[in-house]
Amino acid sequence: MATNHISVPTEEERLSHLLEISESLNDVRDLDTVLESILHQARSIANADGGTIYLREGDQLAFSYTQNATLDKGDHNTQSVNSYAAFKLAINRKSIAGYVAATGEPVNLEDVYNIPADSPHTFDSKYDKEIGYRTRSILTVPLRTTRNELVGVMQVLNAVRDGVPGRFTERDQLYISLFANTAAVAIDKAKMTRAIVLRMIRVAELRDPTETGPHVNRVAAYSSEIYRRWAARNQVPEDEFRRNRDQLRIAAMLHDVGKVAIPDSILKKPGKLTAEEYAVMQRHSVTGACLFGDAGSDWDAMSAEIALRHHEKWDGTGYPGRVDIDAEPIVNGPGLKGEEIPIFGRIVAVADVYDALTSRRAYKEAWDEDDALETIRQDAGTHFDPGVVRAFDEVYPVVKVIRNKFAD
Ligand code: C2E
Ligand code: SIN
Ligand code: SIN
Ligand code: FE
Ligand code: FE
Repeated sequence: MATNHISVPTEEERLSHLLEISESLNDVRDLDTVLESILHQARSIANADGGTIYLREGDQLAFSYTQNATLDKGDHNTQSVNSYAAFKLAINRKSIAGYVAATGEPVNLEDVYNIPADSPHTFDSKYDKEIGYRTRSILTVPLRTTRNELVGVMQVLNAVRDGVPGRFTERDQLYISLFANTAAVAIDKAKMTRAIVLRMIRVAELRDPTETGPHVNRVAAYSSEIYRRWAARNQVPEDEFRRNRDQLRIAAMLHDVGKVAIPDSILKKPGKLTAEEYAVMQRHSVTGACLFGDAGSDWDAMSAEIALRHHEKWDGTGYPGRVDIDAEPIVNGPGLKGEEIPIFGRIVAVADVYDALTSRRAYKEAWDEDDALETIRQDAGTHFDPGVVRAFDEVYPVVKVIRNKFAD
């Protein structure tokens, strides 16, 4: 203790910290950002090295989000790759998470490799072996809304006490259980927001069959990973980063909603567009921005900005350029150039083109992955912001995992 420079917080301090972070969850909207914030905060409440959130899908638990500080030290992509992993557990008493979901009771274990023989649940060490980790203590609690609906299960693991591995205390369990109530409500709300956004996408999909759930999920996830890297390189403060990425996740999904106003004869044309047709097509950027027009929230403002700017090019040859979106008719102006293009427009440009190239379209076949990557790299400095392409290159292993997760 004498050599410990970090003062141990009092119970009062822990409780006020708990209230503070519960409050901050209200500002988050996107499901992934919500899960990330919850886990981050739960780990700080209980001094845990790692954790996982499972979300209920029918009678199963889907492994939905995970963090691990030890594993994350080596490679900046590890956490992202792990968080796109997909596996499911049955809700029954065999696994620890399944047991907690089935019974609604928290489980607090000191060492999962020494579970008492009369316990109903067992620990599956397969995942530990795969990732080269030793799980010891685990605290697992149910995530239940105020209507008492189970949205999932939260697990924190490997308590660190005074720098050494230990167990989760009764206090930890109490605080994590309290926090789990707030967390469950935030998750419930975020799921609703996502459902509404996906419903908007489905309306667009009726018109344009390329504007599908998988496509928009990929573009949003690529954009989010590129921004993570870009923000780290550009020293964006943590708070600003979290807020922006939360908005970006949703806004990027809506980058092409303006296509709902493009006639079918152009939208679904199997061949190349004429110059006039392409001019009509380009209006989807401005139309999209108009949908979020009188920007009510930060989220609307980001959605409008991305819809408007995702086809600008770094060298100034993109569209719509300097436009007056209230003018009638709208005429494209000279393209924005370099950093005049908002950063989120520059990011979605790379994510969108990469996804367009690697997907089939009415007017073209899907490109080979390497050809698409080569084109993105070659167009750094002309079409794309070189700093954004660099970030894209650095998260490319995650991009591949995302492509598999949201396959057409
Ligand atoms: P999209 O299909 O989602 O494509 C988005 C962007 O990806 C395009 O923006 C372009 O920058 C890039 N891209 C897509 N396919 C190719 C390709 O084969 N080669 C290269 N070098 N880049 C590609 P852009 O050009 O502003 O197009 C916006 C939207 O206009 C496209 O969205 C698509 O819906 C439509 N579109 C563009 N060209 C054609 C065409 O020749 N025929 C038809 N039917 N639609 C087109
Ligand atoms: C505009 O609405 O024309 C400007 C918005 C932007 O710069 O992204
Ligand atoms: C940001 O802080 O995320 C935006 C900075 C920029 O526009 O370059
Ligand atoms: Fe577009
Ligand atoms: Fe698109």
